[in-house]
Amino acid sequence: MERSDHTKVAILGAGRGGRALLDLLHQIPSIEIVGIADRNPAAPGLERARELQVPVATNVPDLVSNHGVSLILDVTGDPEMETYLHAHKPPTANVLSGSASRLLWKLIQHESKLEAELLQSEKLAGIGSFAAGIAHDINNPLQLILGLAENLAEERDLNAVHQQAQDIIEAVKRTSAICRDLTRYSRRASPHDDVLVPVNEKLDEALKIARYASSFHDIEMIKQYQPGAAVKGNPDELLHVLVNLITNAVHAMEGRGGTLTIETLLHDGQVEIRISDTGCGIDPDKLDEIFEPFFTTKAPGKGTGLGLYNVKTIVNKMHGTIAVDSRIDGGTTFTLTFPDAELVGQGSLS
Ligand SMILES: Nc1ncnc2c1ncn2[C@@H]1O[C@H](COP(=O)(O)OP(=O)(O)O)[C@@H](O)[C@H]1O
Ligand SMILES: [Mg+2]
Repeated sequence: MERSDHTKVAILGAGRGGRALLDLLHQIPSIEIVGIADRNPAAPGLERARELQVPVATNVPDLVSNHGVSLILDVTGDPEMETYLHAHKPPTANVLSGSASRLLWKLIQHESKLEAELLQSEKLAGIGSFAAGIAHDINNPLQLILGLAENLAEERDLNAVHQQAQDIIEAVKRTSAICRDLTRYSRRASPHDDVLVPVNEKLDEALKIARYASSFHDIEMIKQYQPGAAVKGNPDELLHVLVNLITNAVHAMEGRGGTLTIETLLHDGQVEIRISDTGCGIDPDKLDEIFEPFFTTKAPGKGTGLGLYNVKTIVNKMHGTIAVDSRIDGGTTFTLTFPDAELVGQGSLS
């Protein structure tokens, strides 16, 4: 990451406004928050800063003059602060005070709402393409239920009746599990705070959903999971990322078959998720464009061109990176790398 591109920001005031700015700016990788200060040691923003590992400054003059701050956001609401800053801030630092900081906060909030809308619309558009898969997966147990019920109507042996009733119950449970998976997936990502998400479980959940969206016919699956791989983020959003990447991989192998390899790795305190296919590959000239909104090479109704754009937005928000390695007709590997890996459930392995 190029540190020179970073905007170094200091936040003065850690009340509600300061806390909200901290939360929002912290999500933007090109912004480095060099510190937050408040006269009140119990201010809510200071506690949040400690959670996010953002430095809490005990004294304003130090924060303002050190660190090569390029932007000072003053949300103290203290009229004397403005005068102080104009007298003491480094000449290269810009100050956004009071109403300007509030405006910034509102704009960022507005943008994240728009982003959430875009994510949801893309997800719903994707679900349209699930229809065939769902119909197929629901029709199989339904046919089974029909056959069993027809037998039951004629059956005289009580034991056989019990067995067939049990089979019907199982088939109905399978059908409702499909409906449950899909309703859960189609709902809006819940806006809860970041949590530790077990990656392997999410990948399995994503595979289940992706199977409705595309045909895995003639596709061999290889799973290589590093036990305990976990990342920090919103579980619904990570699921969305994984469904997108798996669906793209399967689409790339459609009609030709191939191997889908899903790997998780832990190294140097980082979690890596790799999704590889042996499909059509991506034209090197197009590699820069695939993350652009509405870039698609798929037929109308098959692709929205928003999948990778949303993937990138979410991965950035999680402070991760995404890399692509592709060869025409050789296949493609998408690698997601996330910081702050924490091992979960290690104890159960040995
Ligand atoms: N695994 C892959 N193999 C080959 N091409 C891919 C792969 N993933 C993405 N692409 C290319 O990137 C484009 C954009 O992907 P995406 O943003 O998910 O939109 P969509 O899937 O709706 O087309 C695809 O249309 C395709 O050309
Ligand atoms: Mg896609």
